[in-house]
Amino acid sequence: MKKIILLHLFAAMVFSAAAQLKVHHLLTENKPNPLGVDAAQPRFSWQLDAGNRRNVLQTAYELVIQTDDGQPVWRTGKMATPQSVLVPFKGPALASGKRYNWQVRVWDNAGNASDWSEPSFWQMGLLKPSDWKAQWIEPGFAEEATRPSPLLRKEFSIAKKLKRATAYITAHGLYEAYLNGSRIGDAYFTPGWTSYNKRLQYQAYDVTGQLQQGANAVGAALASGWYRGNLAWGGNRDIYGKDIALLMQLQLEFEDGTTEQIVTDGSWKSSTGAIRSSEIYHGEKVDARLDQPGWNKPGFNDASWTGVKTAANAKEVLVATYNEPIRKKETFAPVKIFTTPKGEQVIDFGQNLVGWAEVKVRGASGQQIILSHAEVLDKAGNFYITNLRAANSRDTFILKGGGEEVLAPTFTWHGFRYLKVEGYPGTLNKDDFEAVALYSDMPVAGKFTSSNELINQLQHNIEWGQRGNFLDVPTDCPQRDERLGWTGDAQVFSRTAMFNMNVHSFFTKWMQDVSADQIDGAVPFVVPNVLGAGSVASAGWADAATIIPWNMYLAYGDTGILQQQYGSMKAWVEHMRRKSKNDLWNTGFHFGDWLFYRPDDDNDGRAAVTDKYLVAQCFYAHSTQLLINAAKVLGKKADVLQYTALLQKIKDAFRKEYMTPSGRLVSGTQTAYVLALQFDMLPEALRKGATERLAENVKSYGTHLTTGFLGTPYLCEVLSRNGQADVAFALLLREQYPSWLFPVKMGATTIWERWDGQKPDSSFQTPGMNSFNHYAYGAIGDWMYRTVAGLDTEEDGPGYKHIRMKPLTGGNFNHIAATLQTYYGPVTSGWKREEANFNMDVVIPANTQASVFIPAPSVNAVREGGLALSQNGAIKVIGFHNGYVQVKIGSGSYQFTATGSGTATTSAKR
Ligand code: BGC
Repeated sequence: MKKIILLHLFAAMVFSAAAQLKVHHLLTENKPNPLGVDAAQPRFSWQLDAGNRRNVLQTAYELVIQTDDGQPVWRTGKMATPQSVLVPFKGPALASGKRYNWQVRVWDNAGNASDWSEPSFWQMGLLKPSDWKAQWIEPGFAEEATRPSPLLRKEFSIAKKLKRATAYITAHGLYEAYLNGSRIGDAYFTPGWTSYNKRLQYQAYDVTGQLQQGANAVGAALASGWYRGNLAWGGNRDIYGKDIALLMQLQLEFEDGTTEQIVTDGSWKSSTGAIRSSEIYHGEKVDARLDQPGWNKPGFNDASWTGVKTAANAKEVLVATYNEPIRKKETFAPVKIFTTPKGEQVIDFGQNLVGWAEVKVRGASGQQIILSHAEVLDKAGNFYITNLRAANSRDTFILKGGGEEVLAPTFTWHGFRYLKVEGYPGTLNKDDFEAVALYSDMPVAGKFTSSNELINQLQHNIEWGQRGNFLDVPTDCPQRDERLGWTGDAQVFSRTAMFNMNVHSFFTKWMQDVSADQIDGAVPFVVPNVLGAGSVASAGWADAATIIPWNMYLAYGDTGILQQQYGSMKAWVEHMRRKSKNDLWNTGFHFGDWLFYRPDDDNDGRAAVTDKYLVAQCFYAHSTQLLINAAKVLGKKADVLQYTALLQKIKDAFRKEYMTPSGRLVSGTQTAYVLALQFDMLPEALRKGATERLAENVKSYGTHLTTGFLGTPYLCEVLSRNGQADVAFALLLREQYPSWLFPVKMGATTIWERWDGQKPDSSFQTPGMNSFNHYAYGAIGDWMYRTVAGLDTEEDGPGYKHIRMKPLTGGNFNHIAATLQTYYGPVTSGWKREEANFNMDVVIPANTQASVFIPAPSVNAVREGGLALSQNGAIKVIGFHNGYVQVKIGSGSYQFTATGSGTATTSAKR
């Protein structure tokens, strides 16, 4: 009897252990079930769910791939490897337009096997130009000067039973497409922005549900967008061409195995409708009286429409979309409707956001309503748009009349918090107005909270800076006549961006445009480059080419991005090498430490001017270092040797030119010392002194920062890593100008371009350069996550395969918690101070390991889950060093408590 019970128990244990290993969260090329994949070897990722078991590692996996009609494609067999992220497909060549299903099962280090996962799928895109049977088409009528949005349509009929229909669409300009009157997909501003002449993305949509047997109609509206609208300054437009065009292919697969294509060709018709003009900078004009109801449905009488012109536009440049589409995201109701001192009617949505307003209205035909957009009110409380420069950020609507109408633009967006409403019939009612945020729909990755509400608001502002400016490309600002892919801004913010959202696909796409637009290796100021061949190679801007891929490798463990970008990284370093003399890169134009601190009345020279060539030499070294790092990962031994030798020469040249023998730099600024320390420009022996000089410099200003775009991202990091954490916390927590919290105290809901966009007396900085939604200074988010919350990855296990968790206490915080969704699952590092106790909550996902550093007076002072560490089999104690107990743990949730660490050292060398 006893034996039987034991057997049962054993069986139950085996069963429950097996039940505790599941595999889920399947991704193909970082996306769940993507359509339109053109990677020849798509990469698969999955997560292990091991319930609350600890120390779970994958020991093997098996993948099986079939066509969606069940034909076997590839089976890996049991692969004895821990790899669960970005596992490449190595089966036979994949076919254009085909859908494939895949499943995975895994084994773990406790001998468990999972069941097969739920199936996941991906669908290939159109892989060769010849797969496009569609022809480019342009409207057939002569265009008016205001460039109304053309409408294009065609009817067709379906006789057989449909199994699946896929629409492949792109445009010169922007498009919005319809089937039988309903919009195709939920993506906006398609096809997005790339270096169009070299790479033009198309989108793939599953439209099976939008078609019907019998009569069908397909239609599309076009607009100028980035392709030929106003872009950059001085009325610059038609950058990529004068004519907009559509390319669309509807691929129909029938139940009987046959296929058919409905394509853009000379049989389509064209006209215009309600959208009379549309510009990214200058808003939209919509005359609803000119709407053509039913134009995108079957049975519409298009006898008065013109034909179309086919165009011989390139198809060789077509590529599948890699990044997430722009979608409608949060909506905001008015928090206040008021009349300004000037007598204007204004709505406050409470958040500076990027998108548009949607307005319900009833009025007479011909009634004109104008919606203008502003980020801020001026000192007197009036609607302020001078900082938008030449951007005429307003939408004009002429009502059709005869019932409720919903007003919203289609092909433009605005950066705004305040909406000025003119011509609205009747009083403004809160329920009739809504602000809609639109941005690239990247998965949310991180969450950061603390006991300090101002810091929480700062984190909110950083996130909203990202939401507003990650609009298919990383832009500097979303509101004025700029909105360009400034490379410097993108690189300084990139690591922070990776904490807030999963930007893997977003940057993978943009980095290809960086490569595509390099000129003789030189990286443009903006990508896509719309400023011309002379606007390239500024230090700290061009280094986006090396910094972002390396950051992505660390955050996502993706060696593919290094492979993809290696040529570009190397070309950039080689460009600097060619421009250097005796290993000193001191030529050419540089933005330098853009927007650094400079007081108005600078009698005793407090402006923090850093020598631009000193900055350039630091970035030359840094990019070379990152190239070496990438070469090591990719096994390019000759390059490692070659560039290591070059790096030494670059540093020697730096020391000779910009440093005295005792380590004083020619520019005594914070940025000079920060860059020199961060990029290891100084001999080891002189670093301590340099950090002291940096800390003294900060204190000489009454403890405030003076850094611009280039110094700011590393300022606190350099201080805390070199034993000056108190100074770093003082900078973070300072509330007066200049500081991160000054805008917060002034009511900011996003990051400002300048430390004093709005001055302490509420007046504004010069309007020529004063955006209130500019993420660069939000780069402090990286330090908050990685150093203060202590959530980091080891370089030898990038992508959080080997987690490093070392919180930095101080700054009067009682509590800080950060969670990050990694490819392995969520990682949490949270700590709380309770009287003399320090509690640390840690979550480590399955198939990873972590080095955790617990602030504590000794090993014996630390318990986990109530047990002493020595009694805790799941935890390996490494030792005690500099105020931290270091342990090594596997996956699972852990609650560490350290007694007597109420006064944990804040200035410990990390
Ligand atoms: C942009 C930037 C950019 C800078 C270059 C500005 O107009 O808004 O953020 O990096 O120019 O100096």
